[in-house]
Amino acid sequence: MNEKLKKIFPKAQDFLPINGTDYVEFYVSNAKQAAHFYKTAFGFQSLAYSGLETGSTTKTSYVLAQDKIRIVLTSPMSGNTEIEEHITKHGDGIKVIALWVDDATKAWEETTKRGAKSYMKPAKMEDENGLVIHSGIHTYGDTVHVFIERKNYNGIFLPGFKKWESTYKPESTGLKYIDHMVGNVGWNEMNIWEDFYRDVMGFANLITFDDKDISTQFTALMSKVMTNGNGRIKFPINEPAKGAKKSQIEEYLEFYNGPGCQHIAIATDNIIDTVKKMQNRGVEFLHVPKSYYDTVLNRVGEIDEKVDKLKELSILVDRDDEGYLLQIFTKPIQDRPTLFFEIIQRKGAQSFGKGNFKALFEAIEDEQRKRGTLI
Ligand code: FE2
Repeated sequence: MNEKLKKIFPKAQDFLPINGTDYVEFYVSNAKQAAHFYKTAFGFQSLAYSGLETGSTTKTSYVLAQDKIRIVLTSPMSGNTEIEEHITKHGDGIKVIALWVDDATKAWEETTKRGAKSYMKPAKMEDENGLVIHSGIHTYGDTVHVFIERKNYNGIFLPGFKKWESTYKPESTGLKYIDHMVGNVGWNEMNIWEDFYRDVMGFANLITFDDKDISTQFTALMSKVMTNGNGRIKFPINEPAKGAKKSQIEEYLEFYNGPGCQHIAIATDNIIDTVKKMQNRGVEFLHVPKSYYDTVLNRVGEIDEKVDKLKELSILVDRDDEGYLLQIFTKPIQDRPTLFFEIIQRKGAQSFGKGNFKALFEAIEDEQRKRGTLI
């Protein structure tokens, strides 16, 4: 545990120990095609499959992996299902943020006892490869946390899934693990969800950004970063703030029809290489004005990377008292201006790029202007 975590968790009494993110499940309208996109553009590999061939008649799921990251893409096989309703209401989006625990029964008991609304009581899933226990609770909007206990399981993913063999194996882009996942919630709801993550899940507030930290001439938002005891799970929670024009968070809430996951930040060890590969494969990134790079070294001091390379790719830099970080944001990855990805490389810094907020949000406003939503 690092010093900052020791300070915010004075009594190391973690009632919800979490080993890490187990998987993230998206509900999408065409999982087969979405899987091809994530393989081609992001460099994920085929891992597991569940569908008609495995006896699943109501939904089809493709599981993709890259280093420690697992994503599940799920589509309904017929109408009138919870999955179809989710897609109709939200568009393609994230339903499940699954957390890897040693005891899914205790995780459910401890959180529901503290006020969490149950999504799924602890239940066993078994096949010839062993036993998985899963349970779940609701969080913001229609998003849920599923607890996965897999210490007695040796299969490819979960019971019911078979290995997905594919001859199409695009090269990895160097994505390593999920650094943080951000939730957008409604007006005056950030503190409610801060309370939820603190009281129900035992998290603590790592950093708070108020509307003065995160504003431009036109728009504003507020954010609180919540972390679990070992720092492996970080969930910033955003809410809109009053500005002259509509905040990007309001735009998200309108198009997503409520709160939901805004972005997944994925870590890499070589952001220049990762972003080059992703760009070559068709991923679109936000671009900040070139003038950003005229003064960047004055602000962050010496860095290992050549500024020209960062400028060419539109990669942002920020520094805190522990080191620096490099980051870049994709444009929304579906038609609705909702979910996007961040690619981040940490070189010591444990913060979130506060020094880039203004340039970044001006770049987002440019996109909002094109969409006619900066009103
Ligand atoms: Fe982020």
